[in-house]
Amino acid sequence: MSGTILVTGGAGFIGSNFVLRQRSCKNRIVNLDLLTYAGNLLNLQELNGDPDHVFVQGDIGDRALVRKLLEDYQPVAVVNFAAESHVDRSIESPESFIQTNIVGTFHLLEEALAYWKRLPAERGDRFRFLHVSTDEVYGSLGPADPAFTENTPYRPNSPYSASKAGSDHLVRAYYHTFGLPTIITNCSNNYGPRQFPEKLTPLMLLNALEGKPLPVYGDGLNIRDWLYVDDHCEALSLVWERGNPGETYNIGGCCEKANIEIVETICALLDEMAPESGYAPHGSLITYVKDRPGHDRRYAVDCSRIERELGWRAKESFESGLGKTIRWYIDNREWVESVKSGSYRDWMVRQYTGR
Ligand code: NAD
Ligand code: DAU
Repeated sequence: MSGTILVTGGAGFIGSNFVLRQRSCKNRIVNLDLLTYAGNLLNLQELNGDPDHVFVQGDIGDRALVRKLLEDYQPVAVVNFAAESHVDRSIESPESFIQTNIVGTFHLLEEALAYWKRLPAERGDRFRFLHVSTDEVYGSLGPADPAFTENTPYRPNSPYSASKAGSDHLVRAYYHTFGLPTIITNCSNNYGPRQFPEKLTPLMLLNALEGKPLPVYGDGLNIRDWLYVDDHCEALSLVWERGNPGETYNIGGCCEKANIEIVETICALLDEMAPESGYAPHGSLITYVKDRPGHDRRYAVDCSRIERELGWRAKESFESGLGKTIRWYIDNREWVESVKSGSYRDWMVRQYTGR
């Protein structure tokens, strides 16, 4: 499929990887991003001078701006990545999560609906509103529970996951009530290049390279399912092209790992890939710290629907994906330095000092 896509949050981690992929497929991108602490134009550096990547700094909750972008660029789809995305920040300060993830998504839906209603029938039939969401809306699993399916009831436990659940419900309602052709995806933990280093993987690998403690929450046995970001972006492209309006698709890597296993694997890879750091064996930096309040114990994703209906499956193995990720952070020192601004340092002090 080709055409113009309005991508929101396309300067963040997953959004920028998606934008780069779509440009390589020749789709024109209008990229609306507020550039919060998590948004970074360096993520899109290789598109500098590309006339088919239009970057607009702004808020998904700015109705007049969204309306103008839809009218001016006539997209065939809206892909909504824009969100506050970090669980620990939602515990410290939930308000912006409600504002962007729920209220912002509501405003975006309202404008998308008004635009869609004005489209001629044939273009209206092809239009899609793809909402990128998370497996965290399903809550926490016990050790023997089956993986989340698309029919698992929502039981969000953090302000972040509750705000994402709220946005998912709105998106679903706009399909059922107004017929807006929406699709929701619920994906597991992504890792890969361009992830802001407040999240587990980049935080651990960058701390290790600098000889800083590696702060593992609780007993380190909480389990997440891990997916390389390019695999997620490929799944999103397929869902946009071939998914059914009104449906939800779970996306995951079939790769459940305990946090401590992730951290130990990062350390072992760094011992091989960066022996010159001076901190090998990097595993000696592991430090257990006070747990995250309300910390979900286990997530696991059943991806059989997207496999069966759209023929998608994760391609990257965990070891090769993690190796590529570490290589990217080692090779992109300019990016790393740019994100370690004063506000990042402040966050690290607030979140980890004396924990
Ligand atoms: P991120 O925090 O790296 O990026 C979010 C982007 O949204 C940033 O560029 C930020 O500037 C922008 N943004 C924030 N508020 C905005 C607003 N009001 N208007 C416009 N732009 C705004 O997040 P990410 O990890 O790339 O996640 C992207 C989406 O995917 C989120 O919706 C998240 O819930 C979902 N998701 C993430 C993961 C993951 O593991 N990272 C997994 C599943 C789903
Ligand atoms: O499951 C999908 C979700 O994955 C996305 O919706 C979120 O946007 C994304 O941030 C991620 O949420 P998590 O809370 O799972 O990711 P995070 O990287 O913050 O933490 C992963 C696990 O590692 C979690 O069990 C908490 C633990 N952890 C995290 C940090 C930052 C630590 O032990 N130490 C840390 O310093």
